[in-house]
This record gives sequence, C-alpha cells and structure tokens, in this order.
Amino acid sequence: MGKSDAMPAYTNLPGMGRTIPEVEAFLIRGGHPLVGEVSVAGAKNSVLKLMAVALLAEGRTTITGVPDILDVAIMGKLVTRLGCEVAWDKAAQTLTIDVPAELEQRADYDLVRQMRASISVLGPLIARLGVADIALPGGDAIGSRGLDMHMAGLERMGAKVTSEHGYLLASAPERLSGATIWLDFPSVGATETLMMAAVMAQGITVIDNAAREPEIVDITEMLVKMGAQIDGVGTSTLTIEGVDQLHPTTHDTVPDRIVAGTWAVGAAMTQGDVTVKHARMNHLAIALDKLTEAGASVSEVDDGFRVVMDERPKSVDIVTLPYPGFATDLQPQFIAMNAVADGLSMVTENLFEARFKFVNELIRLGADIRTEGHHAVITGRPTLSGAPVEAHDIRAGASLVLAGLVAQGDTVVSKVHHIDRGYSGFVSDLTGLGAQIERLAPAEMPAQR
Ligand code: EPU
Repeated sequence: MGKSDAMPAYTNLPGMGRTIPEVEAFLIRGGHPLVGEVSVAGAKNSVLKLMAVALLAEGRTTITGVPDILDVAIMGKLVTRLGCEVAWDKAAQTLTIDVPAELEQRADYDLVRQMRASISVLGPLIARLGVADIALPGGDAIGSRGLDMHMAGLERMGAKVTSEHGYLLASAPERLSGATIWLDFPSVGATETLMMAAVMAQGITVIDNAAREPEIVDITEMLVKMGAQIDGVGTSTLTIEGVDQLHPTTHDTVPDRIVAGTWAVGAAMTQGDVTVKHARMNHLAIALDKLTEAGASVSEVDDGFRVVMDERPKSVDIVTLPYPGFATDLQPQFIAMNAVADGLSMVTENLFEARFKFVNELIRLGADIRTEGHHAVITGRPTLSGAPVEAHDIRAGASLVLAGLVAQGDTVVSKVHHIDRGYSGFVSDLTGLGAQIERLAPAEMPAQR
C-alpha cells in the first residue's frame, strides 16, 4: 500500500474490497490550519442500512452518493453472500444490487464481527423469508451494544427469537403481524430492524419512542419509494401498514453529517477557514451552535456551510443524546477541541459506555482530561505534543488526527483501518485543506512506543 488513501475499485464481486492491514498508520505534522473547501459523501450510517433495505424487494436497486469506505465493502460482501449481485461504480459513487427471488438466511460471524451494522439484515430477512440466522456481534471498542430491543420488538410481532451457539435465530413461519411497540430508548438499530420487519407484516405496526436520526428518515424515504406505507416520518411515532410486496428503486444517500461535523470541528480547533459542501446545516444544529459558542463564525453557503475561527477556541460543555440531541459520534472530536480550548469543560456521554477509552490516547498527546463514569472533565491546554497513538474506533481515530493537526511535532496514529471504515478519502481531503498528513505503510512506521 502506498501513501495515497485511494481505495481500489471493487467492481467484480464477490471478493469486493480489500483487507486493510491493521498496522497502517497516518503521520501528521502539526501546526497547519485547515483552509479551503471539502465535499462530503453519503452517510455511512445510512448507506449500510439502505443496502439492507434493498433486500426487501426482488430486482435491481440502485443507491447513489455511496461513500468509498471499508464498511460498504463489508456490507457488499454480506449481501453478496445472501445471494445478491453487487456492482460498484466508484467514479459515479453508485452501487447496484440485484436481489434474487430466494435469499440465503444466514449472516456469518466472520463478517458480523468486522461490522456490527451487519445486524441490519435481520429485519429484511425475517420479513422476506420468515427466518434469519445472524451471528451475534458481541462487544466492541465503544461498549457492549445490546440487541434486546430488536429481539423484544420482533417477538411482539410474532417471531420466535432465540440465541444459540453465538447466533441470533429468528423465525416467523406465519407472516409477522403488526403490533404496538414501545422502545425503552430511541435506539437507531432497533428502530431500523423493526421498521424493515414491519413494512411487510400483516396489519399495522406502531413504533413508539422511535429514533429520529436523519439516517432513519433517509431509510424511511427509500422504503416509501419502494411502496411501503409509513406515517410519522421523522417523528418518534412511526405507524407502518404492512404491504404484500415492495419494488426496487433508486435512492440517493443523505450526506454524512458526522463527516461534515468532523471538518467543522477541524476548522475551529486549527483556527482555520473551511467550507463544507454537500452538507446539511440543519442536521448539525447543536454541534454548529457549540462551535459558535466556542468563538467560530458559522455561515450557510450554497449546498453547505462555512466555519471560520480567528482565535483559540473557548471550551464548550457537551451532553450526548439521541437526535436531535448532540451526536455521540461527534463527542470525541469535541473532546479533542476542548483539549486545546481556553477553559474547563465537561463532556457527558449517554450512549456508549466505553466511548472515553480513546481519552488515554489524547492524554499521550499532552491533553489534561479526567474521566469519571460517563463524564469527562477537560482542562484546555494551549498546545499538545505529537506522539504515537492508536485509533480504537472510527470517531476516536478521526479525533486523534484532529489533535495531531494542532500538536507540536509529529503524531503517528496507528490502526487507521478504523478511520477507513467511515471516512472516504480522509487523507486526500485533509491534504486538500492544507494539512500535512500521509499514510504510512508498515515498513515506514516508526518503532512502536
Ligand atoms: N441498545 C441496547 N439494546 C438494543 C439496542 C441498543 O441496549 O436493543 C443500546 C446500545 O448498547 C447503545 C445504545 O443503546 O448503548 C445506542 O444504540 P443504538 O441502537 O441507538 O445505536 P446503533 O444502531 O448500535 C448507530 C450508529 C452509531 C451511532 C449510534 C447512535 C450505525 C451503523 N451505527 O449505532 O454509529 O453512534 O447509532 O447514534 O448506524 C459510528 O458511526 O461511529 C457509530 C458508532
């Protein structure tokens, strides 16, 4: 692998994608503000589910605005194994998925363990086949992430759900039947599973306390285009009337608000000036407001927004919550900003118990952060100092790179396959904004700490 971050085209499936060696790293030379324009691709957390939604209808579904990321390749492998043919046109950012009349019922552990979002095939498989065997994903770097609400909701709809030998086995020999389901918590994944199961169930399903993330709205809009009957799109009560059959469609993926938010924070913390195109300001309302509170000037531009920062950022307090609350996926980036901001801040994480794990890496860069349970107290320092650090998950990885941009000297972030899972063209986007960053192949990496 060279120094570019270009991913190979994977047009011929199966065998889509590549395995990125876990030892790849980014070398960042700190001290260069981000200045310029960057364009955001479609949302990872939408497109993976749109690929699952495609399974609901026999025939060819086309998804556009698809980001060139590792997770899309993993999902491509999974739907291929379920019997689909998938083709990827990198230049057009378009995936076509040909869905057969008969699907396979099993999502194997080797793929599920690489990507938890594999669970999103559960809803479509049980809806279409009346049966699904999905490997249990287990815990990951940001917490245990249960599936109890997915299971309880499907049981309400008449499915039998058990877990055996590391697999979740769901079956509904009779068609699923509509039910009223109250979610304990507006879980993104559970809302998606139950919505995808309900669109072809017998009768009416009501999902109350449903998640309202823009990616959920995107999935709902695609389902409606396919013939699903869904009321309450974008609200916390979804009413779904099951239909006998859905038809394939073409759908454009909603822009990735977390990638857009990452560039916004990067602009603010490096005291730069970044225009983020193909981004929706209304999906980032709280985060952009926090950047304004930190001293940035945020303005709307055609098809996006611009963030300009002329001074050291001021610390801002953050509390993560389901949408429209502050996104947990932007929490690590804001901690990185607070690490170099003026003042003391408190960040409260309410979604994932282990999302502060990466804080120890930031501390290696000289940050002053104490964590206690789901709170982190950050005392801003005027500067950080470059060091080798390790990415544990996608957002933590991106945040360590942001920290490297403002650190004195060189920072090497290793295990960047995590970043490649969710950010397309990360290195080229940053280079385009004036950052000094390059991808290191294993042989070029400095000795481990
Ligand atoms: N939860 C349960 N039981 C359930 C479902 C969820 O206890 O049945 C708990 C989880 O353990 C977690 C919390 O509820 O603590 C939130 O889970 P949720 O289902 O809302 O999240 P998810 O579907 O697992 C998606 C995104 C995450 C994002 C969260 C919250 C995808 C593929 N992942 O996860 O994205 O943080 O929603 O917005 O859509 C990322 O992109 O880096 C990422 C982690």
